[in-house]
Amino acid sequence: MTTADGMPPTPPVPPAHAGPPAHGTPPGGDGTATPTPGAPAGTPAARVAGLTKTYGTGDARVVALDDVTLELYAGEFTAVMGPSGSGKSTLMHCCAALDRADQGQVFIGEQDLTRLKDKDLTQLRRDRIGFVFQAFNLVPTLTAEENITLPLALAGRKPDQEWRDTVISAVALADRLDHKPNELSGGQQQRVAVARARVSRPQIVFADEPTGNLDSHSGAEVLQLLRRSVDDFGQTVVMVTHDPVAAAYTDRVVFLADGQVVDEVRRPTREVVLDVMTRMTAPVAVND
Ligand SMILES: Nc1ncnc2c1ncn2[C@@H]1O[C@H](COP(=O)(O)OP(=O)(O)OP(=O)(O)O)[C@@H](O)[C@H]1O
Ligand SMILES: [Mg+2]
Repeated sequence: MTTADGMPPTPPVPPAHAGPPAHGTPPGGDGTATPTPGAPAGTPAARVAGLTKTYGTGDARVVALDDVTLELYAGEFTAVMGPSGSGKSTLMHCCAALDRADQGQVFIGEQDLTRLKDKDLTQLRRDRIGFVFQAFNLVPTLTAEENITLPLALAGRKPDQEWRDTVISAVALADRLDHKPNELSGGQQQRVAVARARVSRPQIVFADEPTGNLDSHSGAEVLQLLRRSVDDFGQTVVMVTHDPVAAAYTDRVVFLADGQVVDEVRRPTREVVLDVMTRMTAPVAVND
């Protein structure tokens, strides 16, 4: 058996989330989001081991990632959260082969990225990784449809018509596919960017604050699109967010602080995520 994505199913597939719990809903109150610490995990679509990345030297030296080991499971929607400067974007960029770490390994599936030459990295990034940026990053001279199919055009690949149509129809922009990005709203542009990230059927899609520039309604549409790509097509999504409501769309939240993984919540609710965020930012008591 394969999923609609053509990938083998990777148990356990998490239960479908319709969306985040309503504001004010107590943890688990909607019956969909009880944290289950220690829940069994599936096969990693990507993983990092001992990943360390520093910027600058001397007094200006910043340890952006400090010996991070983490598995990102196939068929799951994972959120990465943490204070500003905690290393979330650096982690996404190293995982997505947009940047290289100083030490440690990054695996996409079984492939160790640290062993690849630049040319092979470029190909892997094109064929096996999707990336969604906060600022959409569409090509302004291309139409929405041309932007979506750009990765296939660059790869010189003949599109699988059925998958291409599936991805395009999921964007729900049938009457605006001929429009250029500046003729689309922010939410519409980001849905196009999500489709572009999915069209090559990547092993994993990374999204760095994909709703950061959107109002809550447009953000919800993007989050639903990402959620459905996991539930309906078995894709794997990893999303950086600062928003506990966005995190409640996911199956698992990993918390970073000072370049290290410090906590994790499965089947998150907004309230549980807020609670962890509050604890992370609480002042540490000092004995004097
Ligand atoms: N190109 C760079 N040169 C120097 N320092 C950098 C560079 N990129 C990131 N840093 C530093 O590395 C640390 C981690 O940055 P990163 O962008 O990964 O944080 P983040 O968790 O994504 O933050 P935010 O929530 O604000 O986006 C920060 O201290 C940042 O200032
Ligand atoms: Mg960032």
